[in-house]
Amino acid sequence: MTERERWVTRWGLILAMAGNAIGLGNFLRFPVQATQNGGGAFMIPYFVALFLLAVPLMWCEWAMGRYGGLRGHGTTPGIFALLWRHPVSKYLGVLGVFLPIGVVIYYTYIESWTLAYSFFSLLGQYAGVTTREGMSEFLASYQGLNHTFFAGQYVAYVFFVLTIGLNWWILGQGVARGIERLALIAMPVLFLFAIILVVRVFTLGAPDPAHPDQHVLSGLGFIWNPDFSRLGDAKVWLAAAGQIFFTTSVGWGAIQVYASYMKERSDVAVTGLSTVMTNEVAEVILGGSIAIPIAFAFFGSAATIEIAQSGSFNLGFASMPVIFQFLPMGNLLGMLWFLLLFLAALTSSVALTQPLVAFLQDELNVSRRRAVFISVLTVFVGAQIPIFGLKGGALDEMDFWCGTFGVALFALIECIIFVWLFSPEKAWAEIHKGAQVKLPRLFLFVLKYVTPLYLSALFIAWAWQQGPAVLSMEGAAPEDMAWRWAARLLMLGLIGVLCLLTAVAWRRVDRKLPPHRTVPHRTVMEKP
Ligand code: PHE
Repeated sequence: MTERERWVTRWGLILAMAGNAIGLGNFLRFPVQATQNGGGAFMIPYFVALFLLAVPLMWCEWAMGRYGGLRGHGTTPGIFALLWRHPVSKYLGVLGVFLPIGVVIYYTYIESWTLAYSFFSLLGQYAGVTTREGMSEFLASYQGLNHTFFAGQYVAYVFFVLTIGLNWWILGQGVARGIERLALIAMPVLFLFAIILVVRVFTLGAPDPAHPDQHVLSGLGFIWNPDFSRLGDAKVWLAAAGQIFFTTSVGWGAIQVYASYMKERSDVAVTGLSTVMTNEVAEVILGGSIAIPIAFAFFGSAATIEIAQSGSFNLGFASMPVIFQFLPMGNLLGMLWFLLLFLAALTSSVALTQPLVAFLQDELNVSRRRAVFISVLTVFVGAQIPIFGLKGGALDEMDFWCGTFGVALFALIECIIFVWLFSPEKAWAEIHKGAQVKLPRLFLFVLKYVTPLYLSALFIAWAWQQGPAVLSMEGAAPEDMAWRWAARLLMLGLIGVLCLLTAVAWRRVDRKLPPHRTVPHRTVMEKP
């Protein structure tokens, strides 16, 4: 049995984890969510969710991942089975492989748009399209929804294939040579680009002489002046928790996989916290200081809110390119913006694909090359549905089930398994192995009671508020139903296949290891 892969350096681990978390969520999703949900009203539940959900769960996920990795299991089917010796635990863990794959199937497509738009910006492909409506039309045309700018979806498809190819190549190099090296290069570059853009935004002042009141600072004020008036609105709390899960990568099963490549006694407490905080810097400081303030300065507050309401991609893909055209060296700024998005997305898409790779390697003894090939092929084939069913709402359908509902459910399950079924004291001790500091015991209390209750409340609220409407595809045009159903069948199919593979994996092992046989050394083959 070959030895498990490892991160080579501590910096590599930190940057890879940061790269996992920092993604489109930080620079595209966050500004839209914050604007849609009232700016200063959003930030309060946002930070509450960060400290009561993401941070405590992040420690669990790091500890779980390291625990599993040392025993040859990097993904949650294997990890849950170790933590809770019950036949269903491995099947519950299947969610931790399914959710990342379900998301990366459409995430990679959006990632490919950012790559395409970097080129478009540099080459002046959209030069002269200086209205938001025009740029929205451009985006829609790129997506194949009209023929004004592009004759079909060819260009989009080519960029998608390129993006998939790049992911394939990086993953094929393995954890240290692929993912770690990518992070060591991409993360510093990403921060550099982001800082350049933030400085550019801050030096804009009030760019429109006709509207001296439209100052970049008013955009910052919008996010940072706390607004208590909407705290009673459940929608804002749901959106904030959803954003926290999306951006920190907590609640998916993806952190565990990266943590499983750690060394036995490396610290989890401080390192984990520092990567979450790095993500928050990238999100609220950098992500919050680009798209929102610049849109406020150019379009004013009312229009910015309207842009955010009008669709998840309009702020990033329609309004930003318009604004850059009014600035000196706009081509370059546009390219910086989209390359920033691309690098952020790339380090996340490999993190979203690696769980399936690790699952195939760890549980089915598939070689890395093959595991990567199968995983990337799955993403490629699956992506045809969101690519061609974009207008039909296939992407939204997957985003709801995997990115919102599924994550809350999975977070709740992992919390109960790790903290309650594994036992609170063992979980706490596992988090503290090799820890550089002793965490306040208050967090154990939070983990035992607050996080699961908070999650249950969220989960119920989500299921209640959005579930029926989504389930019945309320408001969907009849011709869109087929695409939404295709997306559902794809998701169900993936879950089915993963459960089947899990059953096969455990049956194979059960044959080799009779039940109750104690394994002298915890070997790679150990399975309950
Ligand atoms: N956190 C990433 C982002 O902000 C998305 C992601 C989720 C990546 C889950 C890995 C796992 O875009």
